[in-house]
Amino acid sequence: MTLAETRTDHPLEMTTAEEVDAVREVLTGAGLLTETVRFAFFAPEEPPKADVLAGASVDRRFRTVLLDLATGRSWDTVVSATAGEVVSSCELDPPVDGQPPIIDSEFEVIEDILNAEPAWLEALGKRGIEPASVRAVPLSAGVYDYPGEVGRRVVRAFGFRQDHEADHPWAHPIDGLVAYVDLTARTVDQVIDEAVVPVPSTSGNFDDPEVQGPPLDSLKPISITQPEGRSFTVEGNRVRWGKWDLRVGFNEREGLTLHQIAFDGRPVVYRASVAEMVVPYADPSPVRFWQNYFDCGEYMFARYADSLQLGCDCLGDIHYLDAVIADDFGRPKTIRNAICMHEEDYGVLWKHSDIFTGSAETRRQRRMVFSFFTPIGNYDYGFYWYLYLDGTIQLEVKATGIVFTAAAPSEYGTEVAPGLMAPFHQHLFSARLDMTVDGVRNAVEEVEAVRVPMGEGNPYGNAFARRRTRLTRESEARRSADGSVVRSWHVVNPDVTNALGQPVGYALIPEGKATMLADDASSIHARATFATHHLWVTRYDHAERYPAGDFVNQNPGGAGLPAWVAADRSIDGEDVVLWHTFGTTHFPRPEDWPVMPVDYTGFTLKPVGFFDRNPALDVPKPTGGHCSS
Ligand code: NI
Repeated sequence: MTLAETRTDHPLEMTTAEEVDAVREVLTGAGLLTETVRFAFFAPEEPPKADVLAGASVDRRFRTVLLDLATGRSWDTVVSATAGEVVSSCELDPPVDGQPPIIDSEFEVIEDILNAEPAWLEALGKRGIEPASVRAVPLSAGVYDYPGEVGRRVVRAFGFRQDHEADHPWAHPIDGLVAYVDLTARTVDQVIDEAVVPVPSTSGNFDDPEVQGPPLDSLKPISITQPEGRSFTVEGNRVRWGKWDLRVGFNEREGLTLHQIAFDGRPVVYRASVAEMVVPYADPSPVRFWQNYFDCGEYMFARYADSLQLGCDCLGDIHYLDAVIADDFGRPKTIRNAICMHEEDYGVLWKHSDIFTGSAETRRQRRMVFSFFTPIGNYDYGFYWYLYLDGTIQLEVKATGIVFTAAAPSEYGTEVAPGLMAPFHQHLFSARLDMTVDGVRNAVEEVEAVRVPMGEGNPYGNAFARRRTRLTRESEARRSADGSVVRSWHVVNPDVTNALGQPVGYALIPEGKATMLADDASSIHARATFATHHLWVTRYDHAERYPAGDFVNQNPGGAGLPAWVAADRSIDGEDVVLWHTFGTTHFPRPEDWPVMPVDYTGFTLKPVGFFDRNPALDVPKPTGGHCSS
């Protein structure tokens, strides 16, 4: 059955090609889509939570950002595909609001703009490099003290030499050289030719059998067989597996989104997504101090999501979902097999062999996997949401692909191949977790271990206690992880208790790795303030969706979380949203070249008192396999 055949009339169903067409036609009819106007953004405009929960009539709306390539003017619009009308349209003020994201049409013209610039050609000539062999990448500019750039649509471009069609140019960075480009005027503002650095000649062609060497011949095949098929059902975008019930969504900015996640009929999370990510680089060199990429907010990275392949990306009995997005012209673009759903065996769930009764019981854990993978420039990111039989929810992000390269020796990078440098950087993600633990009214408690000094009541000094601190206002809920006291954050429902009289809750268990390392006075600190704390909690507001603001590209900073929490709203017994920063700090290794083995980061949501006992006691013994006693 196809998705269309099982589609239900629900406000959170996935976007269809017909809806993209309807939006384009409405905008054309309203005179907003002229010849030089492109879609810089397109995503479903989900209804407010209260409307969805109340079962209000379905009005399918979509938000688009329109960019006029000829003038640089842009408009933020909402269209109702149901009513066939423009609901709202307002022009952006780029110096204040920021710019729309960088789009495909702009990627395509960057080399032509550079090759028309004498200073760029001269710099290449000085290095003995043929302009036709140079691949240029338009990189988000950030905001620095260049007054002339204010309000203009600017990118900064590096060149990489490509020696033949199959040659990966990332191996041959043309360091010491950068161009600042005005995308609207299609001109080069300035070429900074800092130093002539030898272009590394090492091969980055990880896909070339000669570079790979003879294949390891000792690996026998592993096949996953599920003779009775999968144990989940899909109806439209609604998925049911075990006691789990949820909806799946997709948009070009966040990629995969999960909605109305419930266990055994009890709501846990209303909406979960990765709402932003930033990759700040550590090299202060005059040609690369500005390198900070917001792959969600500046590039809408899920536009480039892979069509996943059975046997390569996913093993087992797979159910794929296609995702429909819009291209630059507002035409529907279907990404086949964008979302992969399957079950995985996950080892032992619970087990005990008893000394007194002789009982020996083992149950196997499984997880339901929802994933997508997207390349963005040199990197590739995989996002894997896992639901487990015991009520645990987990997000695992996989980072792979090719490290960003440079050539000038630097104390802020690693030499990963002869003459090839990879600057230090971070990958910092912001998960937006709109919680509904047994209902909309929730509160957040910080829970940690406390050492107890030896003395009265603790005569032998072995005691340690647990401290719970209610975070009552937004200003108190900007928190950092602390592994030394196993700090976690429990989302509780103060109105609902379990059989033991404890408030039901789900704990956010952080990895607690480094948050943003750039200086507090840096531009990126102001633009990605979300990444300076592991946790923020806000009171739900339908308009608050992206933690670095709606328009991140060339945004001067302060948008999103820092602006919202200035209101310092109460979050105690309210509808709360958790914003969790997690990620990795990457000191590249030689082993990361020429293609990087997957690195992992993420977090876990674990039930704590949500159930009265182990909720997975009812998982039956494995049958049909090799486990029998
Ligand atoms: Ni990295």
